[in-house]
Amino acid sequence: MWIGGCSLCCFLKSTIISFVLLTLSIMQTVSADPWEITRSSIKLGRRLGEGFFGVVYQGLYNNTPVAVKTLRHGTMDPRDFLKEAQIMKTMEHPNLIQLLAVCTEEPIYIITELMKNGSLLDYLKVRVGRLHLNDQIEMAAQVASGMAYLEMKKYIHRDLAARNVLVGENNVYKVADFGLARVLQAPPNQTNLYYIPVGKAIFPLRWTAPEAIANEKFTIKCDVWSFGILLYEIMTFGEMPYPDMNNSQVKQRVPNGYRMPRPVDPYCSQDMYKIMLDCWNGNKNDRPTFEALKMSLRNVRG
Ligand SMILES: Nc1ncnc2c1ncn2[C@@H]1O[C@H](COP(=O)(O)OP(=O)(O)O)[C@@H](O)[C@H]1O
Ligand SMILES: *[C@@H]1O[C@H](CO)[C@@H](O)[C@H](O)[C@H]1NC(C)=O
Ligand SMILES: *[C@@H]1O[C@H](CO)[C@@H](O)[C@H](O)[C@H]1NC(C)=O
Ligand SMILES: *[C@@H]1O[C@H](CO)[C@@H](O)[C@H](O)[C@H]1NC(C)=O
Ligand SMILES: [Mg+2]
Repeated sequence: MWIGGCSLCCFLKSTIISFVLLTLSIMQTVSADPWEITRSSIKLGRRLGEGFFGVVYQGLYNNTPVAVKTLRHGTMDPRDFLKEAQIMKTMEHPNLIQLLAVCTEEPIYIITELMKNGSLLDYLKVRVGRLHLNDQIEMAAQVASGMAYLEMKKYIHRDLAARNVLVGENNVYKVADFGLARVLQAPPNQTNLYYIPVGKAIFPLRWTAPEAIANEKFTIKCDVWSFGILLYEIMTFGEMPYPDMNNSQVKQRVPNGYRMPRPVDPYCSQDMYKIMLDCWNGNKNDRPTFEALKMSLRNVRG
Protein backbone atom coordinates (compact mmCIF):
# COMPACT_ATOMS: atom_id res chain seq x y z
CA MET A 1 0.00 0.00 0.00
CA TRP A 2 2.65 2.37 1.16
CA ILE A 3 4.91 1.26 -1.65
CA GLY A 4 2.08 1.58 -4.16
CA GLY A 5 1.31 5.08 -2.87
CA CYS A 6 4.86 6.13 -3.37
CA SER A 7 5.07 4.77 -6.87
CA LEU A 8 1.88 6.60 -7.74
CA CYS A 9 3.29 9.73 -6.19
CA CYS A 10 6.62 9.17 -7.99
CA PHE A 11 4.77 8.59 -11.21
CA LEU A 12 2.80 11.80 -10.75
CA LYS A 13 5.94 13.70 -9.80
CA SER A 14 7.91 12.49 -12.78
CA THR A 15 4.94 13.11 -15.06
CA ILE A 16 4.61 16.64 -13.78
CA ILE A 17 8.33 17.22 -14.06
CA SER A 18 8.51 15.93 -17.61
CA PHE A 19 5.42 17.95 -18.50
CA VAL A 20 7.01 21.10 -17.11
CA LEU A 21 10.28 20.33 -18.88
CA LEU A 22 8.45 19.70 -22.15
CA THR A 23 6.52 22.95 -21.80
CA LEU A 24 9.72 24.83 -21.03
CA SER A 25 11.49 23.40 -24.04
CA ILE A 26 8.54 24.25 -26.30
CA MET A 27 8.49 27.77 -24.91
CA GLN A 28 12.19 28.01 -25.53
CA THR A 29 11.98 26.94 -29.17
CA VAL A 30 9.10 29.34 -29.76
CA SER A 31 10.68 32.29 -27.99
CA ALA A 32 14.30 31.51 -28.95
CA ASP A 33 14.05 33.92 -31.85
CA PRO A 34 11.32 36.54 -31.80
CA TRP A 35 12.18 37.28 -35.44
CA GLU A 36 11.08 33.82 -36.46
CA ILE A 37 7.39 34.15 -37.20
CA THR A 38 4.69 31.79 -38.39
CA ARG A 39 3.86 31.84 -42.06
CA SER A 40 0.20 32.52 -41.27
CA SER A 41 1.05 35.94 -39.81
CA ILE A 42 2.07 37.08 -43.31
CA LYS A 43 -0.47 37.89 -46.02
CA LEU A 44 1.07 37.71 -49.48
CA GLY A 45 -0.06 40.32 -51.99
CA ARG A 46 1.06 41.31 -55.44
CA ARG A 47 4.27 40.10 -56.97
CA LEU A 48 7.04 42.72 -56.99
CA GLY A 49 9.73 40.94 -58.92
CA GLU A 50 11.80 37.84 -59.28
CA GLY A 51 15.50 37.12 -58.80
CA PHE A 52 17.70 34.10 -59.35
CA PHE A 53 16.64 32.57 -56.03
CA GLY A 54 12.92 33.19 -55.88
CA VAL A 55 9.98 35.56 -56.13
CA VAL A 56 9.48 38.75 -54.10
CA TYR A 57 5.95 39.72 -53.06
CA GLN A 58 4.36 42.67 -51.42
CA GLY A 59 2.84 41.53 -48.13
CA LEU A 60 1.10 42.57 -44.96
CA TYR A 61 2.64 41.90 -41.57
CA ASN A 62 1.09 43.41 -38.43
CA ASN A 63 -1.04 45.48 -40.82
CA THR A 64 2.13 47.06 -42.24
CA PRO A 65 3.06 46.76 -45.91
CA VAL A 66 6.29 44.77 -46.24
CA ALA A 67 8.33 42.98 -48.88
CA VAL A 68 8.46 39.19 -48.66
CA LYS A 69 11.36 37.50 -50.37
CA THR A 70 10.62 33.82 -50.92
CA LEU A 71 13.48 31.47 -51.62
CA ARG A 72 13.20 28.44 -53.84
CA HIS A 73 13.75 25.12 -52.12
CA GLY A 74 17.42 24.25 -51.79
CA THR A 75 18.82 27.75 -52.24
CA MET A 76 20.12 27.69 -48.69
CA ASP A 77 20.40 25.58 -45.60
CA PRO A 78 17.73 26.91 -43.21
CA ARG A 79 20.09 26.57 -40.23
CA ASP A 80 22.84 28.53 -41.98
CA PHE A 81 20.30 31.16 -42.90
CA LEU A 82 18.92 31.48 -39.38
CA LYS A 83 22.45 32.04 -38.09
CA GLU A 84 23.11 34.71 -40.70
CA ALA A 85 19.74 36.36 -40.04
CA GLN A 86 20.74 36.83 -36.39
CA ILE A 87 23.54 39.08 -37.63
CA MET A 88 21.56 40.76 -40.41
CA LYS A 89 18.87 41.92 -38.03
CA THR A 90 21.42 43.85 -35.94
CA MET A 91 22.31 45.98 -38.96
CA GLU A 92 20.35 49.21 -38.68
CA HIS A 93 21.07 52.21 -40.88
CA PRO A 94 18.93 54.61 -42.97
CA ASN A 95 20.63 53.32 -46.13
CA LEU A 96 20.25 49.62 -45.41
CA ILE A 97 17.09 47.59 -45.94
CA GLN A 98 15.87 46.62 -42.49
CA LEU A 99 15.23 42.94 -41.87
CA LEU A 100 11.92 42.62 -40.00
CA ALA A 101 11.31 38.91 -39.59
CA VAL A 102 12.01 35.50 -41.08
CA CYS A 103 10.31 32.13 -41.60
CA THR A 104 13.18 29.67 -41.68
CA GLU A 105 11.22 26.59 -42.57
CA GLU A 106 11.28 26.00 -46.29
CA PRO A 107 10.16 27.77 -48.33
CA ILE A 108 12.18 30.39 -46.48
CA TYR A 109 10.58 33.85 -46.24
CA ILE A 110 12.60 36.99 -45.59
CA ILE A 111 10.43 39.90 -44.50
CA THR A 112 11.90 43.37 -44.98
CA GLU A 113 10.76 46.93 -45.31
CA LEU A 114 9.01 47.71 -48.59
CA MET A 115 10.58 50.05 -51.14
CA LYS A 116 7.94 51.49 -53.41
CA ASN A 117 10.10 52.31 -56.42
CA GLY A 118 11.76 48.90 -56.73
CA SER A 119 15.35 48.18 -57.68
CA LEU A 120 17.83 50.87 -58.66
CA LEU A 121 18.64 48.91 -61.80
CA ASP A 122 15.06 49.16 -63.07
CA TYR A 123 14.83 52.75 -61.87
CA LEU A 124 17.93 53.72 -63.89
CA LYS A 125 16.81 51.89 -67.02
CA VAL A 126 13.52 53.78 -67.29
CA ARG A 127 15.30 57.10 -66.74
CA VAL A 128 18.01 56.86 -69.38
CA GLY A 129 19.36 60.36 -69.95
CA ARG A 130 16.79 61.88 -67.59
CA LEU A 131 18.93 62.06 -64.45
CA HIS A 132 21.60 64.61 -63.75
CA LEU A 133 25.07 64.06 -62.33
CA ASN A 134 23.81 65.42 -59.00
CA ASP A 135 21.10 62.72 -58.82
CA GLN A 136 23.68 60.09 -59.67
CA ILE A 137 26.11 61.37 -57.05
CA GLU A 138 23.29 61.33 -54.51
CA MET A 139 22.52 57.64 -55.21
CA ALA A 140 26.18 56.71 -54.98
CA ALA A 141 26.71 58.71 -51.77
CA GLN A 142 23.74 57.07 -50.03
CA VAL A 143 24.94 53.60 -51.01
CA ALA A 144 28.43 54.51 -49.76
CA SER A 145 26.90 55.58 -46.41
CA GLY A 146 25.11 52.26 -45.97
CA MET A 147 28.27 50.40 -46.95
CA ALA A 148 30.43 52.51 -44.61
CA TYR A 149 28.17 51.31 -41.80
CA LEU A 150 28.67 47.65 -42.81
CA GLU A 151 32.41 48.33 -43.06
CA MET A 152 32.40 49.74 -39.53
CA LYS A 153 30.47 46.66 -38.32
CA LYS A 154 33.02 44.43 -40.09
CA TYR A 155 30.28 42.87 -42.19
CA ILE A 156 30.71 41.96 -45.87
CA HIS A 157 27.94 42.37 -48.42
CA ARG A 158 29.24 40.03 -51.17
CA ASP A 159 26.64 41.00 -53.78
CA LEU A 160 26.66 44.77 -54.10
CA ALA A 161 25.07 45.76 -57.44
CA ALA A 162 22.35 48.08 -58.75
CA ARG A 163 19.87 45.18 -58.64
CA ASN A 164 20.47 45.03 -54.87
CA VAL A 165 19.88 48.71 -54.19
CA LEU A 166 16.24 49.69 -53.70
CA VAL A 167 14.56 53.02 -54.26
CA GLY A 168 12.04 54.53 -51.86
CA GLU A 169 10.10 57.76 -51.71
CA ASN A 170 11.86 61.14 -51.58
CA ASN A 171 15.03 59.91 -53.26
CA VAL A 172 15.97 57.43 -50.60
CA TYR A 173 18.28 54.61 -51.66
CA LYS A 174 18.95 51.55 -49.55
CA VAL A 175 21.26 48.59 -49.89
CA ALA A 176 19.53 45.19 -49.82
CA ASP A 177 20.53 41.53 -49.62
CA PHE A 178 23.71 42.07 -47.58
CA GLY A 179 25.27 38.85 -46.38
CA LEU A 180 22.75 36.66 -48.16
CA ALA A 181 25.24 35.54 -50.78
CA ARG A 182 27.30 33.83 -48.08
CA VAL A 183 24.57 31.32 -47.36
CA LEU A 184 23.12 30.94 -50.83
CA GLN A 185 23.67 27.73 -52.69
CA ALA A 186 22.68 27.18 -56.26
CA PRO A 187 22.51 24.03 -58.31
CA PRO A 188 26.02 23.95 -59.79
CA ASN A 189 24.67 23.38 -63.28
CA GLN A 190 22.47 26.44 -63.15
CA THR A 191 23.58 29.89 -64.24
CA ASN A 192 21.93 33.12 -65.15
CA LEU A 193 22.80 36.52 -66.48
CA TYR A 194 24.62 37.59 -63.31
CA TYR A 195 25.63 34.56 -61.29
CA ILE A 196 28.03 31.87 -62.42
CA PRO A 197 29.46 28.92 -60.49
CA VAL A 198 33.04 29.17 -59.27
CA GLY A 199 34.14 26.13 -57.31
CA LYS A 200 31.36 25.20 -54.92
CA ALA A 201 29.95 28.73 -54.75
CA ILE A 202 28.26 31.00 -57.22
CA PHE A 203 29.48 34.51 -57.97
CA PRO A 204 28.11 37.59 -59.66
CA LEU A 205 31.12 37.45 -62.00
CA ARG A 206 31.02 40.98 -63.43
CA TRP A 207 30.71 42.58 -59.97
CA THR A 208 33.31 40.44 -58.23
CA ALA A 209 36.90 41.47 -57.58
CA PRO A 210 39.44 39.24 -59.37
CA GLU A 211 41.12 38.10 -56.14
CA ALA A 212 37.75 36.93 -54.76
CA ILE A 213 37.18 34.82 -57.89
CA ALA A 214 40.70 33.44 -57.61
CA ASN A 215 40.69 32.41 -53.95
CA GLU A 216 36.91 32.31 -53.30
CA LYS A 217 37.45 34.60 -50.33
CA PHE A 218 35.54 37.83 -49.82
CA THR A 219 36.59 40.96 -47.96
CA ILE A 220 35.14 44.44 -47.60
CA LYS A 221 37.66 45.41 -50.31
CA CYS A 222 35.80 43.17 -52.74
CA ASP A 223 32.67 45.15 -51.85
CA VAL A 224 34.63 48.30 -52.74
CA TRP A 225 35.42 46.80 -56.15
CA SER A 226 31.71 46.02 -56.61
CA PHE A 227 30.89 49.59 -55.62
CA GLY A 228 33.03 50.76 -58.57
CA ILE A 229 30.96 48.52 -60.86
CA LEU A 230 27.79 49.93 -59.29
CA LEU A 231 29.06 53.44 -60.08
CA TYR A 232 29.48 52.30 -63.67
CA GLU A 233 25.87 51.05 -63.68
CA ILE A 234 24.68 54.37 -62.28
CA MET A 235 26.62 56.42 -64.84
CA THR A 236 25.42 54.27 -67.77
CA PHE A 237 21.78 54.09 -66.61
CA GLY A 238 21.93 50.37 -65.94
CA GLU A 239 24.18 49.02 -68.64
CA MET A 240 25.56 45.50 -68.14
CA PRO A 241 29.21 45.83 -67.06
CA TYR A 242 31.78 44.79 -69.70
CA PRO A 243 29.08 45.12 -72.37
CA ASP A 244 31.23 43.84 -75.22
CA MET A 245 32.72 40.85 -73.44
CA ASN A 246 31.48 37.33 -72.69
CA ASN A 247 32.00 35.66 -69.32
CA SER A 248 35.19 33.84 -70.26
CA GLN A 249 36.72 37.07 -71.55
CA VAL A 250 35.82 38.84 -68.29
CA LYS A 251 37.35 36.00 -66.28
CA GLN A 252 40.51 36.15 -68.33
CA ARG A 253 41.06 39.86 -69.02
CA VAL A 254 40.09 41.59 -65.76
CA PRO A 255 42.72 39.81 -63.61
CA ASN A 256 45.25 40.81 -66.29
CA GLY A 257 44.51 44.48 -65.82
CA TYR A 258 41.67 45.23 -68.23
CA ARG A 259 39.35 47.98 -66.95
CA MET A 260 36.18 49.37 -68.49
CA PRO A 261 36.66 52.66 -70.31
CA ARG A 262 35.08 55.86 -69.04
CA PRO A 263 31.35 55.87 -69.78
CA VAL A 264 30.78 58.85 -72.05
CA ASP A 265 27.20 58.44 -73.17
CA PRO A 266 25.89 60.40 -71.38
CA TYR A 267 28.67 62.31 -69.75
CA CYS A 268 30.60 60.79 -66.83
CA SER A 269 33.08 63.27 -65.39
CA GLN A 270 36.81 62.54 -65.00
CA ASP A 271 36.34 62.83 -61.22
CA MET A 272 33.69 60.14 -61.22
CA TYR A 273 35.76 57.85 -63.45
CA LYS A 274 38.78 58.34 -61.18
CA ILE A 275 36.72 56.99 -58.25
CA MET A 276 35.73 53.91 -60.28
CA LEU A 277 39.37 53.22 -61.15
CA ASP A 278 40.37 53.61 -57.48
CA CYS A 279 37.78 50.96 -56.56
CA TRP A 280 39.19 48.70 -59.27
CA ASN A 281 42.75 48.87 -58.03
CA GLY A 282 44.33 45.46 -58.63
CA ASN A 283 45.86 45.61 -55.16
CA LYS A 284 42.92 45.38 -52.80
CA ASN A 285 44.70 47.19 -49.98
CA ASP A 286 45.08 50.27 -52.18
CA ARG A 287 41.32 50.57 -52.72
CA PRO A 288 39.61 53.32 -50.74
CA THR A 289 37.44 52.65 -47.70
CA PHE A 290 33.70 53.35 -47.95
CA GLU A 291 34.23 56.11 -45.41
CA ALA A 292 36.70 57.75 -47.80
CA LEU A 293 34.38 57.15 -50.77
CA LYS A 294 31.63 59.08 -48.99
CA MET A 295 33.98 62.07 -48.87
CA SER A 296 35.27 61.77 -52.45
CA LEU A 297 31.72 61.61 -53.80
CA ARG A 298 30.92 64.88 -52.06
CA ASN A 299 33.73 66.55 -54.01
CA VAL A 300 32.95 65.14 -57.47
CA ARG A 301 32.73 67.81 -60.15
CA GLY A 302 30.70 67.54 -63.32
N1 LIG B 1 12.20 45.35 -50.24
C1 LIG B 1 11.73 45.43 -51.50
N2 LIG B 1 10.81 46.35 -51.82
C2 LIG B 1 10.37 46.44 -53.11
N3 LIG B 1 10.74 45.66 -54.10
C3 LIG B 1 11.64 44.70 -53.85
C4 LIG B 1 12.19 44.53 -52.54
N4 LIG B 1 13.09 43.51 -52.59
C5 LIG B 1 13.09 43.09 -53.86
N5 LIG B 1 12.23 43.78 -54.64
C6 LIG B 1 11.97 43.59 -56.08
O1 LIG B 1 12.11 42.22 -56.39
C7 LIG B 1 13.10 42.02 -57.40
C8 LIG B 1 13.85 40.74 -57.14
O2 LIG B 1 14.65 40.88 -55.99
P1 LIG B 1 15.74 39.80 -55.61
O3 LIG B 1 15.08 38.52 -55.30
O4 LIG B 1 16.64 40.38 -54.57
O5 LIG B 1 16.52 39.54 -56.96
P2 LIG B 1 17.68 40.36 -57.66
O6 LIG B 1 18.51 40.98 -56.59
O7 LIG B 1 18.41 39.30 -58.43
O8 LIG B 1 17.00 41.37 -58.53
C9 LIG B 1 13.96 43.27 -57.32
O9 LIG B 1 14.57 43.53 -58.54
C10 LIG B 1 12.95 44.35 -56.94
O10 LIG B 1 12.29 44.81 -58.09
C1 LIG C 1 9.07 57.01 -57.71
O1 LIG C 1 9.91 57.93 -58.35
C2 LIG C 1 9.24 59.00 -58.97
C3 LIG C 1 10.24 59.82 -59.74
O2 LIG C 1 11.40 60.06 -59.00
C4 LIG C 1 8.53 59.83 -57.93
O3 LIG C 1 7.86 60.91 -58.51
C5 LIG C 1 7.55 58.95 -57.22
O4 LIG C 1 6.97 59.64 -56.17
C6 LIG C 1 8.20 57.70 -56.71
N1 LIG C 1 7.17 56.80 -56.30
C7 LIG C 1 7.14 56.30 -55.12
C8 LIG C 1 5.98 55.44 -54.81
O5 LIG C 1 8.02 56.49 -54.31
C1 LIG D 1 20.78 20.17 -63.20
O1 LIG D 1 20.84 19.24 -62.13
C2 LIG D 1 19.56 18.82 -61.70
C3 LIG D 1 19.77 17.97 -60.46
O2 LIG D 1 20.90 17.15 -60.56
C4 LIG D 1 18.89 18.04 -62.85
O3 LIG D 1 17.62 17.60 -62.43
C5 LIG D 1 18.75 18.98 -64.04
O4 LIG D 1 18.21 18.27 -65.15
C6 LIG D 1 20.10 19.58 -64.42
N1 LIG D 1 19.90 20.59 -65.44
C7 LIG D 1 20.72 20.74 -66.46
C8 LIG D 1 20.40 21.88 -67.40
O5 LIG D 1 21.67 20.01 -66.67
C1 LIG E 1 33.92 34.60 -76.05
O1 LIG E 1 34.37 35.48 -77.05
C2 LIG E 1 35.59 35.09 -77.65
C3 LIG E 1 36.06 36.22 -78.56
O2 LIG E 1 35.02 36.73 -79.32
C4 LIG E 1 35.38 33.79 -78.43
O3 LIG E 1 36.58 33.37 -79.02
C5 LIG E 1 34.92 32.73 -77.44
O4 LIG E 1 34.59 31.54 -78.12
C6 LIG E 1 33.69 33.22 -76.67
N1 LIG E 1 33.42 32.27 -75.62
C7 LIG E 1 32.20 31.82 -75.35
C8 LIG E 1 32.08 30.84 -74.26
O5 LIG E 1 31.22 32.20 -76.00
MG1 LIG F 1 18.45 41.18 -54.64
